[in-house]
Amino acid sequence: MMLSTEKNCICRAVVPNAEMHRFNENLFEIVSAQNIDDGFILDLIRRDGSSPRSTVESLSGFGYVRRFEDTWFPGDCNSLDRSNLLRSYFDAVAPEYDSKISQSKNIACYKYLLKSFAKLQDRSASVLDFGCGPGTILRAIAGSKSVESVTGFDFSDEMRRIATERGLATISTSEFNALSGNAYDLITMCYVMHFQIDKAIYERLINLLKNGGAIIGNVHKDIGLSPFLDFLCTINGVDISRADSAFGSVITIRKGSHNVG
Ligand SMILES: C[S@@+](CC[C@H](N)C(=O)[O-])C[C@H]1O[C@@H](n2cnc3c(N)ncnc32)[C@H](O)[C@@H]1O
Repeated sequence: MMLSTEKNCICRAVVPNAEMHRFNENLFEIVSAQNIDDGFILDLIRRDGSSPRSTVESLSGFGYVRRFEDTWFPGDCNSLDRSNLLRSYFDAVAPEYDSKISQSKNIACYKYLLKSFAKLQDRSASVLDFGCGPGTILRAIAGSKSVESVTGFDFSDEMRRIATERGLATISTSEFNALSGNAYDLITMCYVMHFQIDKAIYERLINLLKNGGAIIGNVHKDIGLSPFLDFLCTINGVDISRADSAFGSVITIRKGSHNVG
């Protein structure tokens, strides 16, 4: 079924199969339901009251969090379920992703992340773009002297396919897992950090950084910022800093010695 954006479509929720019983027809009118690998994308409206607020309140009450545009995701599922659900969601929306985001904002965010890194290191950087989506970074680095090379990684095959078609060098999950350490100066995470990436992945990313290199990303609307900062403090061998920006807090995770360039 199509992804509906009808006028009456109040909220969109990505619901794992195991939770579908909570979104029953007594409470919600399901305007459309798209089956994805690990669940459903539902466009729904609450039956009683039918106001946007009542639908939002129900989703919050169910522990759902708005993480991407108008779309809500379960806040408390285990990391494997969360990751599978997110991946199948982004596979499904990849073809229409550009029309769902404000591209100029994401491009501006990338530029901000690159500029932040240029303040730490003044030579041109090898960059890994983690969660590259359909290759938005390409439009941010056009003509940039601060980027020596850029590689994109995304766990969504569809996102990666589009990014590759657009000319971004990308790596698959198995290639990502096989990368050896000390490979990149900078790892960008543009509109990715608020998706609750696992600690093991951050540790892997830190391992991929050269000494003095950094992961720099924004936390969209500061969603989950405080637990995220607490979580980062549990990672060894890095300095963490935070700055306000128009894109939410920008977090820099810097590895090891800083006596570089
Ligand atoms: C909101 S999009 C941002 C895409 C791109 N950075 C941009 O600004 O246009 C988030 C992307 O992160 C990817 N992503 C989320 N969690 C991920 C994970 N654990 N591993 C790899 N990619 C992930 C999604 O597939 C999606 O393409």
